[in-house]
Amino acid sequence: MKKSGIELNLGRLSGPVLIFGGPYSNLAATHAMRQRAETLQIPPTQIICTGDLIAYCAEPQETLELIRDWGIAVVQGNCEEALGADAPDCGCGFAEETTCSLLSVEWYRYATQKVSSADRLWMQRLPKSIVFRLAGKRIRVVHGGVRQNNRFIFPSTPRAVKEEELALADSDILIGGHSGIPWGEKIAERAWLNSGVIGMPANDGTPDGWYLLLTPEDKKIRCGWQRLSYPALQSSHNMCEVGLQSGYAETLVTGLWPSLDILPAAEQDRRGKTIRLEEILC
Ligand SMILES: [Fe+2]
Repeated sequence: MKKSGIELNLGRLSGPVLIFGGPYSNLAATHAMRQRAETLQIPPTQIICTGDLIAYCAEPQETLELIRDWGIAVVQGNCEEALGADAPDCGCGFAEETTCSLLSVEWYRYATQKVSSADRLWMQRLPKSIVFRLAGKRIRVVHGGVRQNNRFIFPSTPRAVKEEELALADSDILIGGHSGIPWGEKIAERAWLNSGVIGMPANDGTPDGWYLLLTPEDKKIRCGWQRLSYPALQSSHNMCEVGLQSGYAETLVTGLWPSLDILPAAEQDRRGKTIRLEEILC
């Protein structure tokens, strides 16, 4: 394993590789993810988190400790960048005065009170990008975009933008998080994938989170998404107990986001609809 500045190189992995994003201070969801990985017998050396360990939910410190104890690789999300720098806001990229921006104030204020100076230092040192090889393919994992960690890339984002990101990534497969919705698109012989997140629902009307499995198959990689169920009612209750009573506590149970500010029209139309993801062979 090599770490050079902002990039962590994991070298050649043998797979399967498990990728997930957005624990978002949701301890129960993070426990469920670890248990699923253990059931699947995927070791920590083959697991990558796309970042945003700390955000909306009630257990920032405990979630961070669980991830660190697990020993998996973590990309620095905008939340880790902001908390690491003791910045005034989460840096999620929400436009000013939007509902998303106003809602983020509550959890960010709560989280800043819970993380230690040692945690902040650890978050500062996380890599912006993680690269590895699997089945002969070059794979890069980022948080939002290759150069901008809070760039939102959605299924409906113009193909030209995705092609530009893939060119910047210099990889066969580019994997991001940040936008909170799992999706994938094959572009020529390459692919842009989003693992989805585990700490908030995907706005599909279910409490489930999502993760991504990369399974080598001959000289190709089978990329497939899976749901992650966990005790969401408990996480929602915990948020209310500590005074985090904005719309996100309800979202954990209903599976519907409290605001659609960040979503393009196509994704707004998908609110509450079942997500069906075909496997991608790349
Ligand atoms: Fe993010």
